[in-house]
Amino acid sequence: MNAPTVAQIPPGIVNLDDHARHAQTVLDANAWAYFSGGAGDEITLRANRSAWDAQQLYPRVLQALAGGHTRAQLLGHSLAHPILLAPVAFQRMAHPDGELASAYAAAALGAGLVLSTQSSIALETIANSVITESARGPLFFQLYLQHDRGFTRELLQRAEQAGYEALVLTVDAPTHGARDRERRAGFKLPPGISAVNLAGLPPPPPIVLQAGQSALFDGLLTQSTTPTWDDVAWLQAQTRLPILLKGILHPADARQAAALGLAGIIVSNHGGRTLDTTPATAAVLPRIKDAVGTLPVLVDGGIRRGTDVLKAMALGASAVLIGRPYVYGLANAGAVGVAHVLRLLRDELEIAMALCGCKTLDKASPALLFEGKSTIGIANATDSYL
Ligand code: FNR
Ligand code: LAC
Repeated sequence: MNAPTVAQIPPGIVNLDDHARHAQTVLDANAWAYFSGGAGDEITLRANRSAWDAQQLYPRVLQALAGGHTRAQLLGHSLAHPILLAPVAFQRMAHPDGELASAYAAAALGAGLVLSTQSSIALETIANSVITESARGPLFFQLYLQHDRGFTRELLQRAEQAGYEALVLTVDAPTHGARDRERRAGFKLPPGISAVNLAGLPPPPPIVLQAGQSALFDGLLTQSTTPTWDDVAWLQAQTRLPILLKGILHPADARQAAALGLAGIIVSNHGGRTLDTTPATAAVLPRIKDAVGTLPVLVDGGIRRGTDVLKAMALGASAVLIGRPYVYGLANAGAVGVAHVLRLLRDELEIAMALCGCKTLDKASPALLFEGKSTIGIANATDSYL
């Protein structure tokens, strides 16, 4: 593999939405439909954004701010800032350097990285390239269970051996959502791009449907790609790594995850790509946090501004993940573009903290939000967060 090419940030890009707009001019229609699209009418896709917008910050003035910082703790890791790169499949479709560029940028900026099962560069290549970087953030592997349990076990053993520090089991995508934009664009993976981590996966047993049977319920969902709570317990028995569940929206599911002794959960609706018309992640975060107490809760979906990151922390998140924005940075300028996106977001977070009178993130609480109590039902908000 060639070393990542060094590119420059196109002029005029000063925030994450600028990256998105520019990426649309760089990506072909096929890739744009895949990366930017959501499910159905994209109501959840839009709701994720507007729910962060709807939260208002409630600043305090005249606070002593010198020595403040964006550091945070997550599963025993010290983070330079609480921003991770979410698992996003097939990144070589955005840029030839693909996930490698994202990993270099994350390592340089101290961001955590969650590599997708469906990455277009091998999980070992990614880990080997960044594992010894001293300033890197945590390195997690996102797992999609495969129909062949032996293969799945080997996959997670490979992840352990390569140095990944946690497994992120995605539980909100037993099947693809109805993605109209992809279907209109006739989306297909370009030649030469594939889920290389799954090379050698034996083909699933053929499904023979009787007349009137459903290709989904009597076909795909009869294969063990669809995780159940029993499979979560199975996974716990296979690995020494901490496990997080990604794609939790309901407090009852969050409580079950906590009861099973999982390491954390990621409140996510897959960036609005699976089930449309779910609540926005910002809206459910407080009740999930209430349900699980001290269990680390991360959140993703629609985070585009440092103010969004601060709002998430105020609502009890331990960290946030971004998906599309860094892929747009990748499309625009490879590793430099991803680093730029992370840098913009972190700088905005610092500015937001300073202007809110919030010196460190452990001081962020619901009281940092205007009418935090009534807007989305946050329990125990107080008038003072300092
Ligand atoms: C994703 N996401 C995702 N999640 C996952 O667990 N495994 C995966 O392989 C993928 N692949 C993927 C591809 C693309 C193109 C996108 C946009 C998203 C979901 C992702 O991890 C994350 O939950 C959302 O992207 C967060 O929302 P934003 O930041 O994109 O709004
Ligand atoms: C997606 C799958 C890969 O969202 O998670 O496209």
